[in-house]
Amino acid sequence: MPIAKIISTGSYAPEKVVTNHDLEKIVDTTDKWIIERTGINERRIATEGETTSDLAYKASVTAIERAGINAESIDLILLATFTGDMPMPATACLLQSMLKAKSAAAFDISAACSGFLYGLSIADAYIRAGTFKRILLVGAEVLSKFTDWRDRNTCVLFGDGAGAAIIEASDGDNGLLSVDIHSNGDMASLLYMPGGGSKNPPSRETNDNSMHYIKMKGNETFRFAVRTLEKLVVDALDKAGIDSSELSLLIPHQANMRIISATASRLGLDMSKVMVNLTKYGNTSAASVPIALDEALMEGRIKDNDYVLLEAFGGGITWASALMKW
Ligand code: UT7
Repeated sequence: MPIAKIISTGSYAPEKVVTNHDLEKIVDTTDKWIIERTGINERRIATEGETTSDLAYKASVTAIERAGINAESIDLILLATFTGDMPMPATACLLQSMLKAKSAAAFDISAACSGFLYGLSIADAYIRAGTFKRILLVGAEVLSKFTDWRDRNTCVLFGDGAGAAIIEASDGDNGLLSVDIHSNGDMASLLYMPGGGSKNPPSRETNDNSMHYIKMKGNETFRFAVRTLEKLVVDALDKAGIDSSELSLLIPHQANMRIISATASRLGLDMSKVMVNLTKYGNTSAASVPIALDEALMEGRIKDNDYVLLEAFGGGITWASALMKW
């Protein structure tokens, strides 16, 4: 049976940089607090007219060029986001039009920060079933437009960006070895955006009450994330019969340096085997893992036959892992 294999990646982040010092001027925070509590130094922010599909397009074009393929040969476009251009149509369809990927089916995936790994599990199932042969999977977010820039609890955390991957069927044993996805809707209120859906349709009230912004119970989310991710990564390796010493690189969701260090330490991994780029981008939700994967590849940190473990955690609550042999 064929397995799914990432044959190329691409990523894009908006040019505008917002530093911690810039944030000191708009909310009651300090560069020191942000670095100590999160590890973030700066983040990229979209311009007024820049949309999620624009970012997704730029990351996708790079992935398509690096794969040396034509966009018309793509069978399916999956786009993980919760900050799409519009509630309808799917941003994946807008991306399909921009890429002129005429043969592709396209839909969005809503799993917040775990969206790229949820997408990988969907791609894996389609490829194993033989339904599709070539899939473009993208994680893209413009979180800045759904961030309350008066709320220091959240505005220091997020950034905008996109990461893309071309996935194909592989007959060898290099590719996606396993992917695990999980959720717990009982904890939905830890991280959510209350306004704009059928529960609280857009109105003057939702607007006046800032209900279109991301809300997070940071500390509870943090504690749940640490507990959950520690078990997730251990389970992923146990299931594959791989010892953590055989792992070449851990690519975690880039939410908080302290969460990343706790996960690495549970595996007994030296931080040199952990991809960290949240210092430059902050938490870009569904874009975080594919941007980190793309940068790790570009920096030459992944070689053929390396074991690479990806993990993510986010709104839903959702969490997921993927183990690959590169
Ligand atoms: O990507 C999806 C999943 N998301 C995550 O995994 C994020 C998880 N959460 C976190 O990363 C952390 O909880 C935060 C970085 C959001 C917060 O760090 P914390 O160590 O959990 O801090 P805290 O929320 O317990 O707040 C500690 C103090 C509070 O003040 P008091 O009550 O002790 O006086 C906050 O009001 O820090 C205060 N605080 C700030 N101070 C300066 C909160 N935000 C800020 C800020 N600047 N930006």
